[in-house]
Amino acid sequence: MTEKPFLTFDNSPERCILVGLYRSSEQRWEAEEHLAELKALAETGEAEVIETFIQERAKPDPAYFIGKGKIEEISLYLETNPAGLVIFDDELSPAQARNIENALNVKVIDRSALILDIFAKHARSSEARTQVELAQLNYLLPRLTRQWQHLSRQVGGIGTKGPGETQLETDRRLVRRRIGHLKEQLARIARQKNTRRQHRQEMFSAALIGYTNAGKSTLLKAFTAADVLVQDQLFATLDTTVRRLDLSSQTQILLSDTVGFIRKLPHHLIASFQTTLAETLEADLLIHIVDLAHPFFRDHISVVKQLLIELGISHKPRLLVFNKVDRLKHQKNRLVQLKADYPEALFISASRHIGLKRLQSALLQIVESGFEQREVRLNYLNGAAEHLFYPLATILHKYTDDKYLYLKIKYEKKNKTHIDTLVNKFK
Ligand code: GTP
Repeated sequence: MTEKPFLTFDNSPERCILVGLYRSSEQRWEAEEHLAELKALAETGEAEVIETFIQERAKPDPAYFIGKGKIEEISLYLETNPAGLVIFDDELSPAQARNIENALNVKVIDRSALILDIFAKHARSSEARTQVELAQLNYLLPRLTRQWQHLSRQVGGIGTKGPGETQLETDRRLVRRRIGHLKEQLARIARQKNTRRQHRQEMFSAALIGYTNAGKSTLLKAFTAADVLVQDQLFATLDTTVRRLDLSSQTQILLSDTVGFIRKLPHHLIASFQTTLAETLEADLLIHIVDLAHPFFRDHISVVKQLLIELGISHKPRLLVFNKVDRLKHQKNRLVQLKADYPEALFISASRHIGLKRLQSALLQIVESGFEQREVRLNYLNGAAEHLFYPLATILHKYTDDKYLYLKIKYEKKNKTHIDTLVNKFK
């Protein structure tokens, strides 16, 4: 398969128009904010936004999404202001996209396609590339029309046109076959990662999560000097980085940074990114990073919470951390208000290293409350059994008398049953 994304802007920066819709039950400013974000996404995708259109409707028009009248208005605008691309903020049905494309005579994509395109551009590892391609093909499948004439070439020349089969059927068959192949590849990657993860299971793990651009990578870097990509760009990180963090001389945890969240994240993308999200899905603690300087951070918090529900991990312990506190330097009242609104939260600046010690202490406290310490006694003849405790517990102290070996150990509560079994076996 060619590594070039299907939906790509070939001549960058491509001039584009953004289109949003707000239902009568919503506020106009919400649609405006969503379009501001779409603009940032378009710019990340190397397009130049020349105009935005917003339409209010009770519900979307089944044929033209924003209605035929508004499409005509855009068409008129395009006559004097040429653009190569129109991007809709909401997901269009394949039929709507086709109708609008025919009416405007320019390429029409939606937010999902744009996000998939950015992901394709930013994917570096073979894991990320495989996941993005899978999401793209799942997105493409119901949208396949005759325009994908050369798909058999793009999919690598495999397969030929069967007897009586139309080009479209051949393309669909090729895409399905490729999807099957990518899924197998991802299952293989997942198995390898699983083995690696099992070796580290004994350590407490915390995952940084948050809306895109909140500062997760910056925090990981500040804490662990990890060589991670920090950019003022949406979805700079598409892979997961895991680093060891020393909370004290005795306590270490694993800290992971992964892909950022965003509203209206394409469903296929979430489904395809399970391998990358594995660290997050299995973490003992989620550290939710919020960019407090963003005017719609409350909205971002809700989006993240909603995605955690979708991922089935909303029950996990969570620590709320507001980042970029330096940007409220001249707005002390806002900061006071925020602290009153979110009394459980911590306030830091990852890039200016403000509040990191407090965060570290909070983490240590959480880890310790999830850990137990005790002294175990092993029959001296079984002294070699000591090493069996290594993956399960930290040995803080040990001494012997003429009959027994005593170990003072510290372990995660979830390992208790396993430890009890060992103690009984070697008593
Ligand atoms: P994604 O990869 O999109 O998920 O982003 P991320 O959450 O990993 O954000 P990243 O660490 O890449 O930071 C995004 C931008 O915010 C960068 O330009 C950082 O320099 C900036 N940033 C991070 N922390 C702070 C901070 O404490 N204060 C200020 N002013 N900017 C910050």
